[in-house]
Amino acid sequence: MAAFGTVFMPQMIQARFSDDCWSDTQLVPSDKIELHAGAHVLHYSSTCFEGLKAFRHEDGSVYIFRMDANIARMKQSSKLLNLPDFEAGMLEQMIKGIVKEYADETPAPPGSMYIRPTHIGTEAAIGKAAAPTMSSLLYVLLSPVGDYFAGGSTALRVLLEENGMRCAPHMGMVKSGGNYASALGPILDARGQYQADQILFCPGGDVQETGAANFILIDGDEIITKALDSTFLHGVTRNSILTIAKDLGMTVSERNFTVTELLERAAKPTTEAALSGTAAVLTPVGTFIHNDKEIKIGSGEPGPKTARLRQALNDIQWGKSEDKHGWLTKI
Ligand code: COI
Repeated sequence: MAAFGTVFMPQMIQARFSDDCWSDTQLVPSDKIELHAGAHVLHYSSTCFEGLKAFRHEDGSVYIFRMDANIARMKQSSKLLNLPDFEAGMLEQMIKGIVKEYADETPAPPGSMYIRPTHIGTEAAIGKAAAPTMSSLLYVLLSPVGDYFAGGSTALRVLLEENGMRCAPHMGMVKSGGNYASALGPILDARGQYQADQILFCPGGDVQETGAANFILIDGDEIITKALDSTFLHGVTRNSILTIAKDLGMTVSERNFTVTELLERAAKPTTEAALSGTAAVLTPVGTFIHNDKEIKIGSGEPGPKTARLRQALNDIQWGKSEDKHGWLTKI
């Protein structure tokens, strides 16, 4: 299978904002966009995006998972970046419309259709370093995908980084390209030096998130993960996993915790750790790299609780268990 996110449906759906209003939506080719070289996004990074998925059920029908939560986060990111606001209903119609257009192309399990709404500032105004764009483009791309991590569900190696940060602390909850760009250098260094798959950013010892996914620790029947604040992305998959964990009778502790506590708990034989995200789903972490040492988390292998939570999430997404929280939207 092609690498995650490298195959696209030939059309996307778009709407343009200018003169204080949104245009009608339009299906257009997805292989190019017309943009002035002075567009705000290219100079001042006025851009945010979302990642959600559509799933094919056994009877052939297609469902979008947690569309409302992703649209709400996209509105919040747009607001925090001073991009034009839009009605949730408009983006909902755009997402449903493009997913419907390519419903037949939605892969059967274990694949899915990755949905990438994107919002960029298009005003040609390079003087506006400290002023918002007055025009923008909102579009929704589709990409049929399988696993995000090349090893599928094999346990990841994660470097614990206590000095650097993923992004500016007040911007962590914004899903914006700049945050991913700022984490890229450290991730590439960790890959080169330690063959690490990801970095877990823990500035000053505060365990936050990795470059591309949230982090959870599972100790016995307790899940520990950082409490929501502005420093990291408020993952929709994180929220889904925590909700499912509560349904399964686990204890969910959303609180700040340190690298010291993380390493103490990792030493127990039954401890597990995992990364959660739309792309990552729930991928086990087997090894931490800390101060040039390798530390196994529990057995160092993918653990049963991570597998159970991932399966419970997939079962809802694929229509194999009841959607009791109303997370699916039929196309
Ligand atoms: C997602 O999980 O949807 C993301 O946006 C992360 C990205 C690395 C693919």
